Amino acid sequence: HALQSLHTFALPSQCHQLVTISDWHQLEGIDFSKPFCLLGEGSNTIFVDDFAGTVLKIALRGITIEERGDNWLVEVAAGENWHALVIYLLEQNIAGLENLALIPGTVGAAPVQNIGAYGVELAQFVEYVEGFDIATKQCVKLSNEQCEFGYRDSVFKHARKGCFVITRVGLRLNKQWRPQLSYGPLQALHEQQPTAKQVCDTVINVRQSKLPDPQLLANAGSFFKNPIVSNEMVAVLKQRFANMPVYYVDPQQQKIAAGWLIEQLGLKGHQIGDIVVYQQQALVLVNQGKGSAEDLIAMIEYIQQQVWGQFRVRLEHEVRLMGQYDEIHIQGVMN
Ligand code: EPU
Repeated sequence: HALQSLHTFALPSQCHQLVTISDWHQLEGIDFSKPFCLLGEGSNTIFVDDFAGTVLKIALRGITIEERGDNWLVEVAAGENWHALVIYLLEQNIAGLENLALIPGTVGAAPVQNIGAYGVELAQFVEYVEGFDIATKQCVKLSNEQCEFGYRDSVFKHARKGCFVITRVGLRLNKQWRPQLSYGPLQALHEQQPTAKQVCDTVINVRQSKLPDPQLLANAGSFFKNPIVSNEMVAVLKQRFANMPVYYVDPQQQKIAAGWLIEQLGLKGHQIGDIVVYQQQALVLVNQGKGSAEDLIAMIEYIQQQVWGQFRVRLEHEVRLMGQYDEIHIQGVMN
């Protein structure tokens, strides 16, 4: 089965079999001893090879909203579209997710990488994540703590990888809405006491000005994670690059902007085959249409090597790459 239209980076790959999951009981009949890959809308996964197993496209639907004292409990099936959920809740006067508007992909994929933008991340709202435990064939609910959320990270990339299928996410949203406007382009809203809808519209405008629409130009969002480095490392870099943007992580570490590093290297617009570093945001790679896996991997390694050579910082790709049997990680030669 062709995978090009099933992932937003749109490489021309194939899989052995595709199964669409629209009822979680279907999972009881899947042979999980063979290679498999879980897919939502494919906005954070790139198939860099033909996949020799079964792709399970999670298409579970349904949203319920219940009042729980000072909160709303919103329970959403994994196959629902994330942005549509954000908009639907705002229409019901349920606010809180507006900073996360326009993030591509499904609700079920959101906890895996703990989606985040503009000073907010999903983990702040997760009451539970429910899923099918492949070993026991039972549905289990994991608490927020059991999800082990971190920056673009969760237990679903580690201990629960390959053995758990997220089927539903429970979100807790406080009825008392407080806007989160700390991030640069949202700060200007402070004075006008904005509504959640206004914050949402601003986020949408900022994203549309910087990030390519995957429908129009194949891409998978930020390609690399923003590296988290020690304060000592930041001090060394700041001596050479005084205006380098940094973000607080904890008393020992800071996050540096990978897009800024790549731009400093003059790589905006850099092209290998049909893979290009996006002009408006250097952290995004785009496939102009005829991109190949070889060119993409060459681009990843080239950027990693350039960033290492100039800054002595390792870039890890945030986008997940699927090889023939399993996920692969590209780590350019650092010397
Ligand atoms: N910058 C540059 N040049 C560039 C890109 C960025 O100088 O080409 C600078 C910006 O001026 C800014 C800093 O780098 O000072 C950070 O850039 P930006 O605010 O655009 O965000 P980012 O760090 O590149 C992260 C997330 C995005 C999220 C935005 C907004 C990651 C990997 N990416 O990007 O998430 O939307 O912050 O909060 O953490 C995604 O994960 O796919 C994603 C799009």
